[in-house]
Amino acid sequence: MSSELVISLVTRPDVSKPRWDQKTFEGRLRHFYSTVNPLNILISSKGLETSRNVISNYKKGVVCPSLTVDQLWRHKQIYDSAFHPETGEKMFILGRMSAQVPCNMIITGGLLTFYKNPRGVFFWHWLNQSFNANVNYANRSGENAITMKELMCAYLGATTGALTVALGLNQVVGKFPPLVGRLVPFAAIAVANAINIPLMRYKEFTDGITLEDETGRAVGKSTSVAKYAIAEVVLSRVGMALPYMVLTPVIMNQIVKTLWYQRRPWTAAPIQTVLAGLGLLISTPFCCALFPQKKSVEVAKLDPEARAQIEAVQNPPKVVYYNKGL
Ligand SMILES: *[C@@H]1O[C@H](CO)[C@@H](O)[C@H](O)[C@H]1NC(C)=O
Ligand SMILES: *[C@@H]1O[C@H](CO)[C@@H](O)[C@H](O)[C@H]1NC(C)=O
Repeated sequence: MSSELVISLVTRPDVSKPRWDQKTFEGRLRHFYSTVNPLNILISSKGLETSRNVISNYKKGVVCPSLTVDQLWRHKQIYDSAFHPETGEKMFILGRMSAQVPCNMIITGGLLTFYKNPRGVFFWHWLNQSFNANVNYANRSGENAITMKELMCAYLGATTGALTVALGLNQVVGKFPPLVGRLVPFAAIAVANAINIPLMRYKEFTDGITLEDETGRAVGKSTSVAKYAIAEVVLSRVGMALPYMVLTPVIMNQIVKTLWYQRRPWTAAPIQTVLAGLGLLISTPFCCALFPQKKSVEVAKLDPEARAQIEAVQNPPKVVYYNKGL
């Protein structure tokens, strides 16, 4: 079916939306899997340019007669992997979604391997937060773009938080079984998330999140919804790190007891990097897909200011939708 020619279709695919139905878990999983697909990082600039042309021509209604539906979507995925969704600019390679799994895999390998050595702790948490800030910078978007100052604040806050927790807990975990010490990096990044995300999005606490009706018309803004949305994003980010930052130490803690490992202690870094990579490859799309990005809320449950704004529009809706972000 999808090898059909685009040109022969009466209604052509809408490439401004994800290919798969975002109301179902399976649709979201396929969508996020294609978004983080690390193989897309290998596509040459010429390949990226081709996809960009196909997509921009398609939007203007220009379709090559031999283009199939599958090919069209493949070009869209390549386009999305490298160009900013709103500005259309080519993103810095390490800021792209397709770079997330490989980069995070190396950072996690470092965080988990050098969790005891203070210099290692410092270096790897600093690298992680710098990488994070770089992604946030590359991905800033037009209308509510975060300023450089806000970005710096979130970066410094998260780095300080992660380092304080990691170095502080390392002082006290000596009395506990070794596995506890191996879990300190997870505690540190959980705290970093709880600092970073609210700081990056603090404008939403004061200005509110845009509420839309079914048709996508903006009908108001709500600050009470922002609190839930941001808390949920923090939880889902921490949940996303759980499989690779908790399972990897648990497995590693068993491996270090084997004779095989004791003869080859240099394998600590590669083993943990590979385990983290597998964990990331599974958990990133899975956790992103778990909850829909768009949430609905009954107007009656909103804060009075938001309710008043909604009552004031023509045909006020009973239920509104908002985007909770990633
Ligand atoms: C780096 O820290 C952030 C928290 O700011 C966290 O979400 C992310 O998972 C960490 N990266 C790795 C590779 O652990
Ligand atoms: C970047 O922002 C877009 C929306 O503007 C979002 O879909 C995407 O997931 C974001 N990527 C990262 C790496 O945060």
